[in-house]
Amino acid sequence: MPDSVVVTDESGVRVIRMNRPEKKNALTQPMYAAMAAALREADGHATIRCVMFAGSPGAFCAGNDIGDFQHQADSGLAPDTMDFLHALVRNRKPLVAAVNGIAVGIGTTLLLHCDYVVAGSGAVFTTPFTRLGLLPEAASSLLAPLRMGHARAFALLIMGHSLSAEEAKAAGIVNAVVDPAAAEPTALKAAHEIAALPPGAVALSRRLMRGDLDAVAARVDTEAMHFKERLASDEARAAFAAFFARKK
Ligand code: COA
Repeated sequence: MPDSVVVTDESGVRVIRMNRPEKKNALTQPMYAAMAAALREADGHATIRCVMFAGSPGAFCAGNDIGDFQHQADSGLAPDTMDFLHALVRNRKPLVAAVNGIAVGIGTTLLLHCDYVVAGSGAVFTTPFTRLGLLPEAASSLLAPLRMGHARAFALLIMGHSLSAEEAKAAGIVNAVVDPAAAEPTALKAAHEIAALPPGAVALSRRLMRGDLDAVAARVDTEAMHFKERLASDEARAAFAAFFARKK
């Protein structure tokens, strides 16, 4: 079995690649754990100056594994998910992402923690939280309205309206839209550009730009508290069952 998360380091840039293409990179607990470890380790390595998230052709990430959600119905978001979310908030290295294809749920909300995002022209960003009986996570209930304004954040997070790559750019989630084949090379180029800058100046500037991280971390926890109730709700259980019944 190939690793579901592949971490590679090259010339000061760490690439964290979600690698479960047969399930469109839906995230499992081992994947969250591997990504949290890769972020924390990068934080501790002076030689790693930038971290880039990448996925597979056609699938950046299909969100949390819905089968895992069903298993978490009685316990709430699992520890590895929470650990990843907090690693994402507290991470001090600049974060770049290369998005091709679908970016669902956490596949979109993690981008709110990134500093430079390149999307392939066919990328689609969607957060179907309420349709699943759930609520926004990863502090997106705080960060998305700040980033794109309440009106656009409501359509995305609550109504589940998708954003095209160009719309995501207009909403301030994406820096550049390029041909799908160019998404990773373009993001990697930006990552190397960031890695070549004086790291102390970058770290301090980024820290100031990211604002009140305690408030962001607190929002992650508040959302998770409500997530626990929502995962156990009849609405969520019915939506998860409907997802797995859709091909029958
Ligand atoms: N959890 C578990 N399995 C998932 C998944 C998820 N979030 N997303 C995709 N998969 C699985 C599918 O069940 C399917 O598995 P199978 O081949 O064993 O049947 C496989 O990945 C391929 O997905 P499929 O639905 O056939 O691909 P598609 O291109 O038609 O659609 C999506 C892709 C992402 C639009 C669709 O799979 C989807 O809506 N997934 C759920 C996304 C979601 O709601 N995530 C949670 C957000 S909070």
